[in-house]
Amino acid sequence: MSKKSFQSLKKIFIKKGFKFKDFEVQNIGDYAADDADWNYKDIRHLNTIHKTVHGVQAFVTNDVMCNINLQKIPIFGFEIPMPLIQYDYSKHNAIYLSALGPYIILVNSIFEEINETQTNVITRFSIGSKGIFWILNPLIEKLLKKNNKTLMNEDLPMRNRRGELRKINHLFYKNTENYSFEFSENIERANVFLKKEENNILVIDKNIILESKDGEIIGNSNGILSFFITIDDEGLKRLWPSTCSHEGAKLNKKCLKTNYLLCPWHNRKVSPLITIKNDKIEIKPNIHYAIKVTDDKISFKYRNDPKYYDTKPFKFLNYDD
Ligand code: FES
Ligand SMILES: [Fe+2]
Repeated sequence: MSKKSFQSLKKIFIKKGFKFKDFEVQNIGDYAADDADWNYKDIRHLNTIHKTVHGVQAFVTNDVMCNINLQKIPIFGFEIPMPLIQYDYSKHNAIYLSALGPYIILVNSIFEEINETQTNVITRFSIGSKGIFWILNPLIEKLLKKNNKTLMNEDLPMRNRRGELRKINHLFYKNTENYSFEFSENIERANVFLKKEENNILVIDKNIILESKDGEIIGNSNGILSFFITIDDEGLKRLWPSTCSHEGAKLNKKCLKTNYLLCPWHNRKVSPLITIKNDKIEIKPNIHYAIKVTDDKISFKYRNDPKYYDTKPFKFLNYDD
């Protein structure tokens, strides 16, 4: 497959008489370069996290995505369709092509790793136009900058959350060297896993859970072995994971729908792991966790095997597996 670099694409349009206005935006953040790459490849969040754009997907492969994005225009408030083709030129080097009337919009994002949990994201914009349309380039620049700021404000909490999990020995599985657009569509996978030296089993006194209050955190304070409690009006106590095993979103009471949590990143429905009514403990079978109850302890086991999800159908995890 032949791929054009950002500069060679620009040169083609310059030869065709286009003049370009260039600008650059840089952001240093507390996340890995892979988290920025993941965020750019993550198709589903476009329509759950971003409020100013709605993506209509035409096709995706591992490293190419073609969309028509319905983009809300700031200040004016209306929505316009914009084609978007996004592809990886090389590792941590993404190219976006779009057009808006007589304007060509070329964007190049480069994710420079500073260290394992710090990354510099450099985004270069080039707006191309011909003749009289050059006059409006400053306006297009202003709109793109404003839009980029809005998108970044919505994206950064996702990247930072992954940075936070990395600091407590969590990792994120990907099936290709760069993150894949196609891979991001399978939201039933558990791509979060613990480093080898971490224990994937947590044992808690049964009484701690029986006596827990609404909103209380159970187990670890954060991460895949952290849980939280809800108690409804009928006294039904439920224990939920406080990290989504798909890609690490934080789950809490705000995500609660009647019978499930709705993950804010990609809308996965998350079931409770345990329900308790009148001190009767009921374990709910789960694909990602297995739970064992003894006289005075409750043990939680996380599957911690992202490759397991390469083959369907997924089965409930047994504690002794
Ligand atoms: S992080 Fe993807 S559905 Fe929760
Ligand atoms: Fe985003």
